[in-house]
Amino acid sequence: MAIVARDNYWVLESGGAAYALGVDETGLLIQTWWGPRLPRPEDYPAARRGEQFAMENALQHTRQELATGEAGASDERTLDAVGATGLRGFVLRFKAARHQGNRLEIDLEDAGQHATITLSYETLDAVGLMTRAVAIRNDGAAPLKLTRLFSGSFYLPADAGYTLNHLDGRWGDEFRMQREPFVHGILQRESRRMTTSHGGVPCFAVERSAPGLAASEEAGRLWFGALQWSGNWKLLAERTRDGRAIVHLGLNDHDFAYDLAPGESRAAPRLVFGHTEQGFGAMSRAFHDFIRDDLGPRRAYVPPVVYNSWYATLFDVTAEGQAALADKAAAMGVEMFVIDDGWFRGRVNDRAGLGDWSPDPAKFPNGLKPLADLVHGRGMRFGLWIEPEMVNPDSDLYRAHPDWIIHFPERERTLSRNQSMLNLGRPDVQDHLIGVFDDLLAGTRIDFVKWDMNRNVSEPGWPGHDRDQREIWVRYVEGLYRFWGELRRRHPDVIWENCSGGGGRVDLGMMALTEQSWTSDTTVPPARLLIQEGYSQLFPASGMAAWVTDEHKEAYSLDLRFHVAMAGALGVGGNLLEWTAAELETARRHVAAYKEIRPLVAAGDLYRLASPRTQPLSALLYVARDRSEAVLFAFRLLQARLGRNPVIRLAGLDPDALYAVEGVNETLSGRAWAEIGLPLPLGNFGSTIRRIRRL
Ligand code: GLA
Repeated sequence: MAIVARDNYWVLESGGAAYALGVDETGLLIQTWWGPRLPRPEDYPAARRGEQFAMENALQHTRQELATGEAGASDERTLDAVGATGLRGFVLRFKAARHQGNRLEIDLEDAGQHATITLSYETLDAVGLMTRAVAIRNDGAAPLKLTRLFSGSFYLPADAGYTLNHLDGRWGDEFRMQREPFVHGILQRESRRMTTSHGGVPCFAVERSAPGLAASEEAGRLWFGALQWSGNWKLLAERTRDGRAIVHLGLNDHDFAYDLAPGESRAAPRLVFGHTEQGFGAMSRAFHDFIRDDLGPRRAYVPPVVYNSWYATLFDVTAEGQAALADKAAAMGVEMFVIDDGWFRGRVNDRAGLGDWSPDPAKFPNGLKPLADLVHGRGMRFGLWIEPEMVNPDSDLYRAHPDWIIHFPERERTLSRNQSMLNLGRPDVQDHLIGVFDDLLAGTRIDFVKWDMNRNVSEPGWPGHDRDQREIWVRYVEGLYRFWGELRRRHPDVIWENCSGGGGRVDLGMMALTEQSWTSDTTVPPARLLIQEGYSQLFPASGMAAWVTDEHKEAYSLDLRFHVAMAGALGVGGNLLEWTAAELETARRHVAAYKEIRPLVAAGDLYRLASPRTQPLSALLYVARDRSEAVLFAFRLLQARLGRNPVIRLAGLDPDALYAVEGVNETLSGRAWAEIGLPLPLGNFGSTIRRIRRL
């Protein structure tokens, strides 16, 4: 049973994890357990308030499911609000619960604030995760202003110390896994940029700090979660003075307010969470399964081999140039030919054009159709780059609607990459954009859209909004979801790629809307391997767009560049018109080989065997669900003095079955490959891809 309910006490079990909560005799909802499943329902701790200590307030040590600061508790709060009379905070008491199958809803009420709060939980039994969400309804006659809306607070079991793992980054260097011990006080991670941002992904994986108890790839405990949201977020890893560890995650309360009119409700983003005793690998595989099988818009998505012209042409796009590239791409086996930036009206550089989404007549006198037909005629599908949330001041759209920009009338509008952000919180802006892009997609057969977003917000004002302007942080993201979701609905066959100056907006919110994500503008192999490893912590390789480009081609072989990109959704982005016949032939061979292994990369279970974070080596294995086959990727990075050949221990194979590794004479059991390992003759920047088959 996914959820066991008894006397206002609930145990949610999914995979090896359990989460329990119950109501005490005063009606307080208490989080009693988060960790491994316990053998019997009676094993879970009772819903009791914490002990009272000298000079501590009454609820200080109580694990409130929603921390509200009631009775002077001074830890961080999950929620906060101010009512019309000045009443601040919440005092929540149990009202009702509904439970069916794998879903549970609990209503709490605050008689003083006249609010009902509904918590919803779901166990995702097939993937071993759980979700929680929280919504607040204003039942009173006066407005209620929300000032904090986190999605959850999690209390870790009493222990000596915890370490937070999170994904940090910046442009060109996304998804850097960081490991930092909880500090005395608060460790804070956030985005204030309107997108989730290059600076991090709203997620956490907490392990024990004691050396023998830390988590590794395939062992050790992790308490983890991620937010399904694509805007400002905040994570607090809190260590209280008495040593308790609490993690809070939700909407950022920086510059945040949201008005609830009488009768109105507002939900916080859904939080997906779990616990494992099998380390980072198990956490990642659970998220990958969840995204591929449950959250993502297309089940069993297998990415096409893409050619993208950005690095080849930059803004110098012409119909003839694209046609010439398309010929080369088709001969290589490419399946999706994508024109990047530079195809639309006025777009000769990054100073003009954004906002005017029709083909530039100087470049495409007969529109895009002739090129699309040519691409289709070569047996490929046709894709286009757009950046719909943006506008250059030098565009007809801006001249017609200068008020559609996010801005403060009293301040100068700061441009970034010469562009401003449209206020997607406004329904009229959403409607305009839906109309424009619906027409574009209806006019020419477009099979793939790369949707970019290339700046951070500034002057976050919304003149004319008749409520608190700080709602912009939430309404923008919801406007984006509506806009994109509506285009998806109207054009269900289009494949959507999410991009924000590389991987600046990769999160579970986007995973629900898009098939793939442009991981990073950095494609140079050693840096890229680190970025891809970080990406893989949460997100599956089926959507991890990875291109072979000409970046530092003098230093890294074409084989290496292909091998790195073949570990994800393979694309090619080099200037094919300058590639030699031998290079084009090498590329053709790799594309063909990729198509053979692609089902495993897209749907296999990922095992990270060697991390470039800790040694000049990277190795990954994608294993078929039934463990009948696998594909190994191994890369040796720069080592000042080459020692012995690296030995890669394979994980994830059936221990008792026999496996043969391509290029190796020996046949060994899965257990032997895991214990003894596979020596690989790799020199500096050498790489190999090996298929592994069960006999
Ligand atoms: C961003 C993207 C690139 C490319 C350019 C186009 O930087 O990450 O891949 O699309 O914009 O302007």
